[in-house]
Amino acid sequence: VEAVPRHEFLRGGFFRFLDLPGNASWERIIPQLSEREWLEMAYTDESLVTQLNGEVTPASGSRRIAGNPTSSSTLPSLVVRMLEDLHVAGGMRVLEIGTGSGYSTGLLCHRLGPERVVSVEVDPSVATQARAGLARVGYAPAVIVGDGLAGHPAGAPYDRVIATCSVLRVPAAWIAQTRPGGMILSTVSGLMGGSGLARLTVTRDGVAEGEFLPGDVSFMLARSQTAPPDLVLHLPDVDAEQRPCRADPTILDDPTGRFVAQLAAQDARHMRMSIQDGPVADYLVDPPSDSCAVLTAQPDGSFTVRQSGPVALWDVIEDTLTAWQAAGAPGVHAFRIRVGPAGQTIWLGGDGRVSNTTA
Ligand SMILES: C[S@@+](CC[C@H](N)C(=O)[O-])C[C@H]1O[C@@H](n2cnc3c(N)ncnc32)[C@H](O)[C@@H]1O
Repeated sequence: VEAVPRHEFLRGGFFRFLDLPGNASWERIIPQLSEREWLEMAYTDESLVTQLNGEVTPASGSRRIAGNPTSSSTLPSLVVRMLEDLHVAGGMRVLEIGTGSGYSTGLLCHRLGPERVVSVEVDPSVATQARAGLARVGYAPAVIVGDGLAGHPAGAPYDRVIATCSVLRVPAAWIAQTRPGGMILSTVSGLMGGSGLARLTVTRDGVAEGEFLPGDVSFMLARSQTAPPDLVLHLPDVDAEQRPCRADPTILDDPTGRFVAQLAAQDARHMRMSIQDGPVADYLVDPPSDSCAVLTAQPDGSFTVRQSGPVALWDVIEDTLTAWQAAGAPGVHAFRIRVGPAGQTIWLGGDGRVSNTTA
């Protein structure tokens, strides 16, 4: 960490979040403004956003801007924790997905030598900036522009694969490009925002199996897997049957609660909002089946649900949440993951009642 100066990967500047009500607003911080203040910020243990909306950089944007982060320099403590979790050692070849600023790539180069590191970044301009940062600290590893979900077969086999963007499903390509006994470390997320850091070991038959590690670790989803921003809501009729909820929807505020809910409805999305000045309610929407559930608070503090479409969304989510709670509501580290030709299965150790398989 001492040998790889983080500020050299932030020469293009970064954005600081301005916590203004109702306005996701960012202020750009560029080195010229105040070298000392900028350096102090570059060495805080925080993720520093370097790109918004897939195109806006501190150099291209105005001083203040609204937008969504699409590239960043991850907080150093998490970068280092993940390299430790990866059990990376001298002599290994590593494939990294999501080069970003290039800082984590730089640490890998220092440890292994740049010839043993391949990093894939989907955004060409981000990759160019990362190569420049790596060159400033003396490294020229292979930084490949492409969709990291395909890995980089030309550099295989790898001893380790590490992703600093998150995936809905661990790609078969990563397993195929990892030597038997090698490890894959990646956050596995869902469209409700639940996320867990998975570490899998690859077996000889092209299957990888492992565990989720402790802690709430989340990354931006791989660009090709990001949910489309627009949703069509086919709401239940106002006079549709209404039943009391068994599980309280505020459980979706809990990171593990979200993770478990996603297992039951992997394509569903969750919003808490008010429509046309109505009361704030929880909306669950499953675009593939065109199903929807609306959960509304009652004056006594309980909740009721109305559902529409072929899938009774809250029924299936509630069943899974209830089984998880009956098992003591353990954290994400109690779950296991297996990926192979049959798809991806995530399950809660023990009786396996809480589980999900996707193709
Ligand atoms: C959190 S940043 C990476 C941080 C980086 N490791 C560091 O230390 O600065 C995530 C990066 O993943 C990239 N990314 C998103 N989807 C990708 C994909 N499908 N393939 C490769 N890179 C992707 C984004 O463009 C972004 O630069």
